[in-house]
Amino acid sequence: MLISLDDAIARLNQGELVALPTETVYGLAGLALQANTVRKIFELKGRPSTNPLIVHVTDFSEAENLAEFNDLSKRVCKIFWPGPITIVLPKKDLIPLEVTAGNQTVALRAPNHPIFREILHRLKQPLAAPSANPSNRTSPTTAGHIAELFGDMAPPTVDGGACIVGLESTVLDLTYDKPTILRPGMITRNDLQLALGEEVLLGPHVIQRMNKAGQTAGDQSPGMSDCHYAPKTPLFLHADTKELLESAQLSRKDLIIVCTAEERNVIEQKDFSCLALSISGSEGEIARNLYSVLIQADKKKRRRLHLVFSHSPKGLNRAVLDRLTKAAVQSNIQI
Ligand code: TXA
Ligand code: MG
Repeated sequence: MLISLDDAIARLNQGELVALPTETVYGLAGLALQANTVRKIFELKGRPSTNPLIVHVTDFSEAENLAEFNDLSKRVCKIFWPGPITIVLPKKDLIPLEVTAGNQTVALRAPNHPIFREILHRLKQPLAAPSANPSNRTSPTTAGHIAELFGDMAPPTVDGGACIVGLESTVLDLTYDKPTILRPGMITRNDLQLALGEEVLLGPHVIQRMNKAGQTAGDQSPGMSDCHYAPKTPLFLHADTKELLESAQLSRKDLIIVCTAEERNVIEQKDFSCLALSISGSEGEIARNLYSVLIQADKKKRRRLHLVFSHSPKGLNRAVLDRLTKAAVQSNIQI
């Protein structure tokens, strides 16, 4: 059900959940300071209670009441907020342990979407908002995706059009000695290092996840992966179109996904069904369309999805590959 901004504010004030657009993906929002409301978020998503939520604020002055800031974290906010970056800091007492999954740290973000910002501004309190998808499934980048992903259980949604970033925010942990990226996103390691003049690390599980892509067929059983962002149809990753076309894995019942319209034309000439992540192959366009194409591909109910991605994990492509390697049951990409 689509609802107006005013209706969303009324519902949120009553402790209900609503789905709202952000510049990254749609979020499933509820009052962050109300433990009961926060529990409803975990329930609707089917999210493990061990996975903490991001608390969304309008700006630094609101965030200051919720977490302990130092000079570095203040600088990150000043440079990058509002925008697609979440920072993890020691929490203050106002933040219920339900939001942080029992941790003494809290993840904070000031989103840069006019609808979300107006709602925060008028509520005058923070909103907890994970991506508005059932746990482990593909994140929604349009209001229509939410209805498709949740079916009858879909939360009332404010339609803010398609999200311009299309991938979840960068998560930067500032509770270690050195700033550490826990989840790569549109604001890259390089962006952070240049702006902060400090070394920024990639968290161990980001590296592990990327390395997972180096495994070849057979190293990993389908279904055993640390699955996230996943379409329902099993997704296989490949680095090379030619190899895929020669592979015994490929059948006419499968759907191939490539990066550009030109590559799609080549595949279609060989009589395979194919979708393209972008027209041009630009990293921004691929990131923006990724979830939308995966959701569209799922609806075609093919036997398998084969996605060919030949870019190296640099800049925004690191974030794309991070999500793809978590969404795939098997990867033949060597990084
Ligand atoms: O772009 C986004 O970040 C979107 C929009 C809606 O803002 N939200 C989002 O939330 O992606 P979610 O719940 O799908 O992802 C939150 C990520 C998870 O990987 C979670 O483990 C991590 O942030 N996180 C949250 N609190 C944390 C904490 N205290 N310490 C470490 N990681 C945390
Ligand atoms: Mg999520």
